[in-house]
Amino acid sequence: MACTPTAPAQNAPAVPGARMWGGRFSSGPAPEMDRLNRSLPVDRRLWRHDVAGSRAWAAALGAAGVIDPAEAADLRAGLDAVAARLESWSEADWAAAGDEDVHTLVERLLGDEIGPTAGKLHTGRSRNDQVATDFRLWALEAVKTLDAALRDVQLALVEQAEQHVATVMPSYTHMQRAQPVSAAHWLLSHAWPLARDRERLADAGDRVSVLPLGSGAIAGCPFPVDRVLLKESLGFRAVSPNSVDAVADRDWVAELLFVAAMAGVHLSRLAEDLVLFASSEFGFVRLSDRFSTGSSLMPQKRNPDALELARGKAGRLIGDLTGMLALLKGLPSGYNKDLQEDKSALFSAFDALTDVLPAVAGTIRSMTIDAARCAGAVDSAMLATDLADFLVREGVPFREAHGAVGRLVRAAEALGCPLSALPREVFVEVSREFASADLDSLFSATASIEARASEGGTSPASVRTQIAALLGQI
Ligand code: ARG
Repeated sequence: MACTPTAPAQNAPAVPGARMWGGRFSSGPAPEMDRLNRSLPVDRRLWRHDVAGSRAWAAALGAAGVIDPAEAADLRAGLDAVAARLESWSEADWAAAGDEDVHTLVERLLGDEIGPTAGKLHTGRSRNDQVATDFRLWALEAVKTLDAALRDVQLALVEQAEQHVATVMPSYTHMQRAQPVSAAHWLLSHAWPLARDRERLADAGDRVSVLPLGSGAIAGCPFPVDRVLLKESLGFRAVSPNSVDAVADRDWVAELLFVAAMAGVHLSRLAEDLVLFASSEFGFVRLSDRFSTGSSLMPQKRNPDALELARGKAGRLIGDLTGMLALLKGLPSGYNKDLQEDKSALFSAFDALTDVLPAVAGTIRSMTIDAARCAGAVDSAMLATDLADFLVREGVPFREAHGAVGRLVRAAEALGCPLSALPREVFVEVSREFASADLDSLFSATASIEARASEGGTSPASVRTQIAALLGQI
């Protein structure tokens, strides 16, 4: 049956700006559709990466003989001009751009610069492989930025730790006074989780560094572009091995979001310690004016807002990760527009961390640790384990020693006196090995700390080894 041709309908855009499609449509999108669909306000952050990816693609098309060398040169020069133009764009310029997304915008501006040759750039390419490439290029930079910011918090912790190897403070389990530790040991306990975050970040970065460009919309590229050269020119580690997977793979986004959420959780725990320790009840640390805020009502207040925000942002970071996993779950293979939501999730996490990390580093660097308050919070009951360890050294089985010292603690509680103030008779009553004990040195928090000289323990020597190990790797 023959088709009867009709005049092609005008495809007038409902809003100003360009689209990359429309030939098969009889009208432009409704304003409601455009408002939902437009991603430029979010993906404009990728413009430099879009230009870089496009320059590399133009070169690859030229090298493959798909376009003339002169056309490839035109495209590249045009893209440079687009970059120069976008570099100088004001917020008002961005607000006025009605383009669907950053890819459409760059191509439209390229048309302004070089005319119809611009239409050759998208040969063999789809926005599906393009956006995946741009976003990965952005993420490779983000990994470096986050790594440097995490490192700086580690450095701030090490700098404080170096000043407080000999500062004695209580450690807590179940938020109950446990055993005396060096304040440096506590500070460093927050630096190691960040070391793991940085390891995870580097590892995730390897999987970010895979080039999707050349995958087309889903099935691959019909032109003989050299993807290995493309990968090298854009600085990727590897080339994606399956085009269907390549356009839809956002595992790396979820991985980075996990790294961000985990780092957020670590910062939140550090913040919680500091919020508690900065309270009048503890008074172990004093936060500087520069990282505290006042109350509009209560003149005496010094609020640890930077730390509270660090703690609060962890909620958003966890949300970004769970939102991304929920987005990916159940997507059919290939690209689906749901994936456009990936960018706001990762940008949100990146922005939260790049706001929080410098403020946490500054808070740590500028705070003062009150060594007297810390030491004053160590009571003699915290040396109960050391008493049991003494009995063990005298040959008493640990379980028995534990019971004997437990009875001492009960006696001190009944008498309402510190453990160290019990008369020697009571010690000898629970265990005759105490008869010859040097009780003063048994109740020395410093001696207790020095005794814990195992690798990773709180003794000054172990802590110095820790500091050297951290400094060696950060
Ligand atoms: N703005 C889109 C995104 O961020 C670009 C890819 C669009 N692809 C498509 N087939 N419509 O995912």
